[in-house]
Amino acid sequence: MTEMTPVTQEKTKAVPALPDAQTVTDVKHYTDRLFSFRCTRPASLRFRSGEFVMIGLMGDPHPETGKQKPLLRAYSIASPSWDEEMEFYSIKVPDGPLTSKLQHIKVGDEVILRPKPVGTLVHDALLPGQRLWFFATGTGFAPFASLLREPQTYEDYDEVIITHTCREVGELTYGRDLIESLKQDELLNDVIGDGFWKKIKYYPTTTREESPKMGRITDLMKSGEAFADLGVEPLNAETDRAMICGNLAFNLELKEMFEGYGLEEGANSKPAHYVVEKAFLD
Ligand code: A2P
Repeated sequence: MTEMTPVTQEKTKAVPALPDAQTVTDVKHYTDRLFSFRCTRPASLRFRSGEFVMIGLMGDPHPETGKQKPLLRAYSIASPSWDEEMEFYSIKVPDGPLTSKLQHIKVGDEVILRPKPVGTLVHDALLPGQRLWFFATGTGFAPFASLLREPQTYEDYDEVIITHTCREVGELTYGRDLIESLKQDELLNDVIGDGFWKKIKYYPTTTREESPKMGRITDLMKSGEAFADLGVEPLNAETDRAMICGNLAFNLELKEMFEGYGLEEGANSKPAHYVVEKAFLD
């Protein structure tokens, strides 16, 4: 039952063990800091690829009253709007109130999912353009995992460039595997258009472990190296649109760079050239 459930609801209806409960259908661990999971989707939930919802678990019982309260955090939905299940990509913080517990979920367990999607990393918040950039650090890749599987991304743009900066190589696995899987996915090639994935340029970088491309994406753009590697011109307001999702310092630094390129920040109510969302950490 949700807070919204009318009091006149039929008494015979099954009551789930948790409010807004969904059942975990798959869990994958990537590193000791990162994992993803899938769960059932509420039948009534409609969302736009790139949005987030509140998800969580029941907290520990209050030591005196024994009452339990839901422990919820904002999580970008990593699955596309058409997927019959929901997917999430999460950090594991050892002493984080939610993720210290959430990292132990198994198939068949229940999670709480409040079916009220919101967010700015949506196509509606951008003006039409030719090239779409996704800029992510760490788990900030999640909304782009959704948008990379969204047909509109390829209908609206000629080119899709995704940059992902992580500390270590293993932290790139979720994104790399997802992009690789797009090529073989018959359903996606059918739904989105055969060979749609050829529009994607993937630019992964690491900062604390050796990899083919090292450095923060912001520095690599400032030096011009990223544009040279990708074989594209720097961003401009006429052709380029961008979505940013990473840690706060990253978001702020990129915003400042974009304003320098002459790009304006958009919103659902006023579409423009780029949009920003914080990667939500526990
Ligand atoms: P660095 O290792 O140089 O701090 P985190 O896990 O702390 O959220 O960081 C994820 C990635 O984002 C790391 O590779 C980190 O690089 C990078 N990062 C942190 N701040 C910025 C920033 N202001 N601009 C670009 N990348 C950043």
